[in-house]
Amino acid sequence: MYMIFKFFFSFFLAFPILLVNAQQDDKIENLISQLTIEEKISMCHAQSKFSSAGVPRLGIPEIWMSDGPHGIRPEINWDDWGYANWTNDYVTAFPALTCLAATFNPDLSMKYGTSIGEEARYRKKDVLLGPGVNIYRTPLNGRNFEYMGEDPYLASVLVVPYIKGVQKNGVAACVKHYALNNQEHWRGHINVEVSDRALHEIYLPAFKAAVKEGSAWAIMGSYNKFRGQHCCHNDLLLNKILKKSWGFDGVVISDWGGVHNTNEAIFNGLDIEMGTPSDKNQSKRYPYQNNFLGKPFLDKIIGNEVKESILDDKVRRILRLMLRTSLKQNKPFGSINNKQHYETAYKIASEGIVLLKNTDNFLPIDKTKRITIAVIGENAEKSMSIGGGSSELKPDKEISPLLGIQKEFRNAVIKYAKGYSSDATVNSDKLRKEALSIVKDADVVLFIGGLNKNRHQDSEASDRDSYQLPYNQPELIKEISKNNKNIAVILVSGNAVETRWKTDVKSILQSWYLGSEAGNAIASILSGEVNPSGKLPFSFPMNLNDNGAHYFGKLSYPGDGVSQYYKEDILVGYRWHDTKKIVPSFSFGHGLSYTSFELLKSSSDKNEYLINETIRVNCTVKNTGKLEGKEVVQVYAGKVNSKINRAKKELKGFKKVFIKSNQSEKIKIEIPVNNLAFYNEKDSDWEIEKGEYIIYIGNASDNIWEEISITII
Ligand code: BGC
Repeated sequence: MYMIFKFFFSFFLAFPILLVNAQQDDKIENLISQLTIEEKISMCHAQSKFSSAGVPRLGIPEIWMSDGPHGIRPEINWDDWGYANWTNDYVTAFPALTCLAATFNPDLSMKYGTSIGEEARYRKKDVLLGPGVNIYRTPLNGRNFEYMGEDPYLASVLVVPYIKGVQKNGVAACVKHYALNNQEHWRGHINVEVSDRALHEIYLPAFKAAVKEGSAWAIMGSYNKFRGQHCCHNDLLLNKILKKSWGFDGVVISDWGGVHNTNEAIFNGLDIEMGTPSDKNQSKRYPYQNNFLGKPFLDKIIGNEVKESILDDKVRRILRLMLRTSLKQNKPFGSINNKQHYETAYKIASEGIVLLKNTDNFLPIDKTKRITIAVIGENAEKSMSIGGGSSELKPDKEISPLLGIQKEFRNAVIKYAKGYSSDATVNSDKLRKEALSIVKDADVVLFIGGLNKNRHQDSEASDRDSYQLPYNQPELIKEISKNNKNIAVILVSGNAVETRWKTDVKSILQSWYLGSEAGNAIASILSGEVNPSGKLPFSFPMNLNDNGAHYFGKLSYPGDGVSQYYKEDILVGYRWHDTKKIVPSFSFGHGLSYTSFELLKSSSDKNEYLINETIRVNCTVKNTGKLEGKEVVQVYAGKVNSKINRAKKELKGFKKVFIKSNQSEKIKIEIPVNNLAFYNEKDSDWEIEKGEYIIYIGNASDNIWEEISITII
């Protein structure tokens, strides 16, 4: 009786949605029947740098797209990459996605998506080209700052609310870059060879979550090849996995200039071709008509080489996208640069900053004291919204770290010297001397360095040349430490860097690219106004070759110019460090606080589980320090005596909790047994191994508080 009631009840609830979908389908089919072949073709490729054509005679609008992923990009010229120099395209710069990942906070991800979606809506964009969820494989990848770290579970949990937040504004999230675009070097042609296991267990889960749980309306194909075929028209990735297996009903958009072949573009799952150069000199009226999905596609349909139904499938998806976005009734107006957006940016920035090291509780710095603070480093002043490639922004405001510190420490004397410069023509000796002269008498030295958004740093289209901090920063830190021991280093970067100099300094903050509120967030952490609670979303290896991708040499990264082989397989990031017992400088999940936390007790609800059950981990965590703060309880799982190669442990659940001083909180983390499955290459399917597993509970991948043994029967 209950089951019958449940069935009718859920049908009743779903009925309005089914009805709306049926009405939408009718609308779409009706429009398709009225469109000419030429009009349908014109919808499948660009008409300008960031738009595709509509069909005015039927009221079908153009589609307008914008980067992404951490702010709405300034307007670009119609047909070249120059900025259009509008005066109404200033935006809020949100923290880059590595920072969002470091918050380990899905609620903040929802706020992020909602706010950026509102800005996209206000700017009249239908598609936001983001978020990016490529897995962090090597610290040299110039674009890691745009992604969510090295762990597929963390990225999956965080990408879903971001997408939902964006899309509730009637703006499509276009999740990128699908898939295996894990380096910028040779990104246009490198052929990635990776096992099915690593593909499904490491590189695809965040995309799968984006589609299946986040219901993303668009996906961007990546530049690289996978098993010999470019990813923008890759049969396995797009047809078989994305559209067939995951049931994606949205639009596949190419990366800009990522299409290379008409037949593959037609048959292998691409829907809209973007970024292929126009030929405006030959054809003023239709300069993109000779794109791969333009006239060559049209000719094949007219010549009966390709069935019109293949074109209709693409157009159906495009019209569905429009009904979800530009043609959606009652969508919000959007808003830009408002108080809420800055609050969101500030919250994410201050919750994402990671305290890597804090000897003798050197931080926080008492802001009531009349002390002298020497601020050293180019990144104290440099705008990090400019540069970096397509994620570049034109922020309405951007508080530099130096300004943030000046505002926060009003009782202190603040002296600033650049110390080093990214400009090779500048006299670095002079800068060095200036820095050394002001650190001598300072009570505190704040070294604000790291990487930047220049080419070969954290930037699109090129990878980093070296794992070291650039511009002789390690040498400068060493020299400063000889004059003053009270140094905190604030690393501004989206990547791990070599940190051999860490013994010369008391504290280290990993502060990412934080956008508009950068300086305010950094200053709040330095003064203790905000207690740090960020956790590293990727490992900091001691040496580059300690990273799994680099361990196997050039064929693994960057490849031989034609192909590369992901030889570390499933052992990416901390999975490699843990399993091979190669200690990193700072581990995945690591992040200190100004207070301390202790696990009082922990248990699982049972000892034995069936494969369709859920493991419930209960624990009580106490704030044993003097300040209130947030902690991220992390739960990892590892198989004992597995029949296959597995990582020692993998993140399977986490929860961020706020706990007052001397108080404790009960936390429940649920792990569906299904999530312990591995990808069985022989069966091309997921399999749950029976037997014993260890559930590890801790506050970092290298700080496990408790191990619980459970058995899957
Ligand atoms: C990037 C994409 C970006 C596109 C449009 C490409 O070069 O790889 O991430 O969305 O340009 O700017």
